[in-house]
Amino acid sequence: MYSYDLLVIGAGPGGYVAAIRAAQLGMKVGVVEKEKALGGTCLRVGCIPSKALLETTERIYEVKKGLIGARVQGLEVDLPALLAHKDKVVQANTQGIEFLFKKNGIARHQGTARFLSERKVLVEETGEELEARFILIATGSAPLIPPWAEVDGERVVTSTEALSFPEVPGRLIVVGGGVIGLELGMVWHRLGAEVTILEYLDRILPTMDGEVSRAAERVFKKEGLEIRTGVKVVSVRPRSKGARIELEGGEVLEADRVLVAVGRRPYTEGLGLENAGIAPDEKGRIPVDEHLRTPIPHIYAIGDVVRGPMLAHKASEEGIAAVEHMAKGFAHLDYQAIPSVVYTHPEVASVGYTEEELKAQGIPYKVGKFPYSASGRARAMGETEGFIKVLAHAKTDRILGVHGIGARVGDILAEAALAIFFKASAEDLGRAPHHHPSLPEILKEAALAAWDRPIHL
Ligand code: NAI
Repeated sequence: MYSYDLLVIGAGPGGYVAAIRAAQLGMKVGVVEKEKALGGTCLRVGCIPSKALLETTERIYEVKKGLIGARVQGLEVDLPALLAHKDKVVQANTQGIEFLFKKNGIARHQGTARFLSERKVLVEETGEELEARFILIATGSAPLIPPWAEVDGERVVTSTEALSFPEVPGRLIVVGGGVIGLELGMVWHRLGAEVTILEYLDRILPTMDGEVSRAAERVFKKEGLEIRTGVKVVSVRPRSKGARIELEGGEVLEADRVLVAVGRRPYTEGLGLENAGIAPDEKGRIPVDEHLRTPIPHIYAIGDVVRGPMLAHKASEEGIAAVEHMAKGFAHLDYQAIPSVVYTHPEVASVGYTEEELKAQGIPYKVGKFPYSASGRARAMGETEGFIKVLAHAKTDRILGVHGIGARVGDILAEAALAIFFKASAEDLGRAPHHHPSLPEILKEAALAAWDRPIHL
């Protein structure tokens, strides 16, 4: 029997960060992870490999489209080299977590964890029994596969397989116009695939601010993605060659490969939650209070397996809040300050309330907007598409939300997240000096526009 102050189940960005923070706070920490590599979906088959592909293919695409002031001939894509780079990046990141575990004296158990009771956990494959004063569930999520989709992992795939197609598909259909569909759809489009995105709702990125998501649709269509909204898929089946998709109304589409990206579901299979006295809610999520405690007070849960957006950094922050609450009795996490970025080109990013949410909640607000086309730096880069929008309280001027589309807008929104975290006003952000010429000046000008008026418009 192994005994810990904290036992973490799952070593994704939620669990591994929590484990490190707990060790820093002096706890004796054990982690159970079923995969050989640490890092979870994000490091192995999610954020990191997709960014490796997005960063490299963006450069290839730039050259394909034509560089300013240069003519390039004979460009060839070396797909095996691209995929090898991606795998190397994943390996460096997952090995980095192993190093951090050793450095922090965190014990690792490889296998599948199952609760035997509120206090005891079994590692299925090894038969090890573990007990702990606190247990943190960080088991993450898995791709949601609807009953009408037959995923064979080859012709009809989830995001995991779409990171490693052995050749560029001639025609790729993506079901779901969310983050995964757009990011991976864009990767294969840049490499030469004909990509169609089918979205059920009337706009892509439906949780983003409406104005931004409509702009994204227009810009991505201009980039060459075919996007169809308001489309209901009723069947997706692999065939001996390619795949067949049927839409409501009888229309049939054919493709070499189909990516099903209609969301993810909390992952709790085989965890034996019933043995710990925890019942998932109607969406399969583990219920938690504001301190991330389940109904069993010494068992906490974080990340994709609980309510809220399925984002790696949200899971990490929750991991830190949960272990600080265990160790000190208090912790706070400001959910409004959690940014969200779609790493397409141009990027789409958001933090805080959307206009739709402010309207629904009857919060009075004002809008300040500034276009990339009016920024000297953006013009110099040849990146004039897009805008940033600052939403501030109509009376107090406090920044409530910032949304944008444009080159590297995700990086710029880090500052907006900090402004919301520090409860800054639009005037604060607008008066803060920004280096010139820079893209963050677009945010400053948008804040000035919300507070009073911009200088360069
Ligand atoms: P998502 O929730 O972002 O998007 C799924 C999309 O599929 C939605 O637009 C939805 O309306 C649509 N949809 C649902 N059923 C459909 C149907 N039957 N036919 C057509 N469209 C349908 O989910 P996604 O893209 O699978 O990503 C899963 C999770 O992973 C998300 O929570 C996302 O935030 C997260 N993620 C975050 C990334 C980032 O932060 N850059 C990158 C990739 C994933």
